[in-house]
Amino acid sequence: MPLIHWTPDFSVGVNSLDTDHKILISLINQLDDAIRAGEAGQAISGVLDALLDYTDYHFAREESLMQACGYADFDAHLRTHNTLRAQVHDIRVRYRRNPESLHGREVLAFLKNWLTAHIVGRDKLYTSSMHGAAQKVEEADRAFGAIYEPPLTVAAGN
Ligand SMILES: [Fe+2]
Repeated sequence: MPLIHWTPDFSVGVNSLDTDHKILISLINQLDDAIRAGEAGQAISGVLDALLDYTDYHFAREESLMQACGYADFDAHLRTHNTLRAQVHDIRVRYRRNPESLHGREVLAFLKNWLTAHIVGRDKLYTSSMHGAAQKVEEADRAFGAIYEPPLTVAAGN
């Protein structure tokens, strides 16, 4: 059974961001599967890499869309992203240095919490601003898609 289920309660009202969130959830579920199955360190390392890459990609998209709609709380949201980026990065670095130092259950509990608390607690706060400037958000989303490729380690929609 997956660790996290995406439900419509998680929707932030923008398709591309919902898709990103589903992919992040899928990656955390993959990490959970790999740890449960006792997979080799390299497999776990690969999922951590994919998670970090996709987190960067998603946060960049979200930041560009928040700016496009003139989201008033952008600075605070950006600070949260920077903290989360650093935390996920730290998990990956620690794992690479010493796989034994990471306690899988703790890491998964942390990731599950940051993802669900971030989406429900923070991301949903920008929904009405994005809806209020839907055209600008759409244009910014297209512009983002024209510049950035999704990380290759992840098949969209997984
Ligand atoms: Fe997000």
